Amino acid sequence: MEIVTSNVVSNHKLTENIFEMKIAYEHSKKLQPGQFVQIKIPSKMLRRPISIASIENDHFTIIFRCVGEGTTILSQFQEGDSIDFIAPLGNGFPIHEEEKEIVCVGGGIGIPPLYEVCKQYRKLGSCVHVVLGFANKEDAFYIEKFMELGAKVSVATMDGSLGVKGSVIDAIQQQQLTHLCVYSCGPTKMLAAVEDVFEKGYVSLESRMACGIGACMGCTCRDKKEKEHYHRICKEGPVFALGKVEF
Ligand code: FES
Repeated sequence: MEIVTSNVVSNHKLTENIFEMKIAYEHSKKLQPGQFVQIKIPSKMLRRPISIASIENDHFTIIFRCVGEGTTILSQFQEGDSIDFIAPLGNGFPIHEEEKEIVCVGGGIGIPPLYEVCKQYRKLGSCVHVVLGFANKEDAFYIEKFMELGAKVSVATMDGSLGVKGSVIDAIQQQQLTHLCVYSCGPTKMLAAVEDVFEKGYVSLESRMACGIGACMGCTCRDKKEKEHYHRICKEGPVFALGKVEF
């Protein structure tokens, strides 16, 4: 883990309020899918935790939703601007070479970390099913990017404006994918539904964070079996095996 001052390579809108930013980082190859960075926002005390969407040789990509003052400031960063971040943080998704067919299930702004998971499995030659859930067509992003990786992509929207009308679970059950190892990130309700229908795999949890490095206990979740045992989402997570924690 290190504090890095670097530069923005690019920053642009994917949808009305979702942005894709590429950030130069000479140690980018040490990052793992599912890990996150804590970005310093000018004039704000707390850094913002943002998951890593894609890892390249000399830079990485983040995708964030512009929801408040902090992310609005971040959305205004431009190519060449100086940016300060802590990386790498969290444990990341394990990649198992023996898994020849997997499924990635993402909802909304939970989708980004699954892109690098998909990329790494495709490099191993595995078949990757990707099920993406959005509120509506206007909110959709990265569908073509997953397709370009050679993934089998399906989409669910709550209003039916794109793909299957309903939730990701409707799309998953239509395709009978529940016997596969799942990698999932998205709203808590969606993760709970994923845990109900899959037997093996991983979920990545989102949480408000303060320190982001395991020091403040501000992001804990309870172990599902040992009720008195807590896990720090920023340190032991954000990725947990299915059935490991309560959420
Ligand atoms: Fe401080 Fe996780 S944010 S321990």
